[in-house]
Amino acid sequence: MRRILVTGGAGFIGSNFVQYLVDHTDVAVTVLDKLTYAASRESLAALPADRVRLVVGDIADAAVVTPLVGEHDAVVHYAAESHNDNSLADPSPFVQTNLVGTFTLLEAARATGVRFHHISTDEVYGDLELDDPERFTEATPYNPSSPYSSTKAGSDLLVRAWVRSFGVQATISNCSNNYGPWQHVEKFIPRQVTNVIDGGRPKLYGAGQNVRDWIHADDHSSAVWTILNQGRIGETYLIGADGELSNLDVVRMILRHFGRPEDDFDHVTDRAGHDLRYAIDSTKLRTELGWKPEYGDFAAGLARTIEWYEQHRDWWGPHKAAVEASYAARGQ
Ligand code: NAD
Ligand code: DAU
Repeated sequence: MRRILVTGGAGFIGSNFVQYLVDHTDVAVTVLDKLTYAASRESLAALPADRVRLVVGDIADAAVVTPLVGEHDAVVHYAAESHNDNSLADPSPFVQTNLVGTFTLLEAARATGVRFHHISTDEVYGDLELDDPERFTEATPYNPSSPYSSTKAGSDLLVRAWVRSFGVQATISNCSNNYGPWQHVEKFIPRQVTNVIDGGRPKLYGAGQNVRDWIHADDHSSAVWTILNQGRIGETYLIGADGELSNLDVVRMILRHFGRPEDDFDHVTDRAGHDLRYAIDSTKLRTELGWKPEYGDFAAGLARTIEWYEQHRDWWGPHKAAVEASYAARGQ
């Protein structure tokens, strides 16, 4: 592969993958990104201009998408509306981007024969009980809870149908919760870390018992590169790093890092339909394709991420007040 199109490459995980390609390969990268509120030109600013090109455009715009896809050897599709709380406030952009946008890209891949990798989420499987010994596998039935996760589930099903009906050369990956640099302050870890940096308190939805399965964004990127090169067409691969922790435990780790008392947080209004627990069994990816995560130690990865937010106030600071005002309006 010489030329790769990365949709949503100015977002949190997409920009990490672009950085990964620059660091580990010699491919030329085109980022197609609409530059929504979630995007960050700064995340790409340090990358060499002769390796990375930014095209500002909408994945649902066939006039932009079809010729652009045809100029590349592969598409890696990250672009999405990604935040559950926003999808509860207004589902409409989620339907437009996650469903219509993915459809538009698939039609372009069908017309051009270009290899397609679809980035998805473990949330398509719904949630697990806290004491359930099972974890999500590729065989778990779809059971999404939120407008966000239902549009991601729908986009996965579109990909599967385009493979089977039209022979599109596609793979899918479903990953657990990512953490690392460049994540928007609306998300859980950046919100709590920046609250504490600002002298405020973390905000825990409900009792804080909900469990998420954390993976460093660098590990997600290496997994996607592995699947893009070695994955079998038509297959789905789950990506996870055995990082299950309750939200309460994560908040306590953040508070400990700053030397603050472990109970120095607020309980706030719970998320409607809040999924209880996600947990990934990534055996298929590890055994069939030989992938393994590099970041086994969540505490160490979290500490580095906290330090990154301390050093990048100029980046997140301008967005913080508006995000907190919108949470406060919802009692969160
Ligand atoms: P993000 O919100 O940080 O970034 C999304 C990017 O997509 C932004 O740059 C935005 O401008 C762009 N975008 C949105 N709508 C667009 C459109 N219509 N046309 C072109 N670009 C558009 O999201 P993220 O957290 O980096 O997630 C990226 C992908 O990974 C999503 O598909 C998400 O479902 C998936 N995912 C995320 C996680 C996670 O923990 N964050 C875990 C598993 C899967
Ligand atoms: O599992 C993968 C998914 O992880 C991705 O598909 C999504 O794009 C990504 O946003 C993430 O979804 P979550 O809803 O799990 O992430 P979020 O950061 O919004 O919340 C993580 C947990 O923390 C969740 O249980 C809700 C809780 N939470 C969140 C916020 C913002 C709080 O307790 N307090 C908060 O202030």
